Amino acid sequence: MITVVGSINMDLVVESDKKPIQGETRLGNSFSTFPGGKGSNQAVAAARLGGKVNFVGNVGRDIFGKELQENLSNEGINIDFISIDKNKRTGVATIIVSEGDNSIIVVPGANYNLTPSNVQHVKALLASSDIVIVQLEILSETVEEVLNICHEQNVPVLLNPAPASSCTKKMIDMATYITPNETECIELFGEYSEEILKEFPNKLIVTQGEAGATYYNGSEVVQVDGYKTTVTDTTGAGDTFNGSFGFAISKGFAFKEAIQFANASASLSVERLGAQRGMPSLHEVKKRLEGLEND
Ligand code: RIB
Ligand code: NA
Repeated sequence: MITVVGSINMDLVVESDKKPIQGETRLGNSFSTFPGGKGSNQAVAAARLGGKVNFVGNVGRDIFGKELQENLSNEGINIDFISIDKNKRTGVATIIVSEGDNSIIVVPGANYNLTPSNVQHVKALLASSDIVIVQLEILSETVEEVLNICHEQNVPVLLNPAPASSCTKKMIDMATYITPNETECIELFGEYSEEILKEFPNKLIVTQGEAGATYYNGSEVVQVDGYKTTVTDTTGAGDTFNGSFGFAISKGFAFKEAIQFANASASLSVERLGAQRGMPSLHEVKKRLEGLEND
């Protein structure tokens, strides 16, 4: 069983050939709303693969909150631990997708009302999970509480330090796995280098998009290659990596195999617009791992 404690947002997505520069107005090509938020994206990634997933989060008492809960429930995720906030609006992310990449502004809203005491209330759930997954789109004191409990209960915890700005050394120390991308790695440690990887053997995984991911195995730096594919929308690719890695670890995969699996899963997710729409099933990931897609 996997428990994700994290953010839940409605993504307001605009597609445009180019992104506007400061002060510019452009006409876009499409507008869509998609379920998102790093926490719920990671939960959906794990559930699509067949994981039994609980989600702990906070939404507002509004239409987005209702739709987002329905979405998670339709994915087979347990939403009993989502609270509904009277005072805050559901989190939103405004996303511009252009030139094969994206720019995002997140307004956390209700996500920032998920408190350490909410986490205390789900202590038994955390303690009985095979792995717990957290990111940094909720309050850092809330994330710290999750890490404290998992540490104390000996439950493996995956910390995806995104966005990296609110990550402390204490949080890094208490995590079992930590998965920054290169930019986040530089923000966390001041650099992305072999020296940094060597400080956290079999713990620090630096994700590199299409290039895959890198870690140190205790005797050498290992680069686990990614998969080249046709990119439609990279939003949620990191989340797919994390949810899939967590799923694989919960199923007892070895560290490197779990990374390979997560790379294959993330590469499938970028083929469709929206953070969650491209997230693959277990069968699809297996086919990509075996290179059998054209059969
Ligand atoms: O990681 C992608 C996610 O970041 C989007 O779904 C958006 O909600 C932002 O939180
Ligand atoms: Na996608």
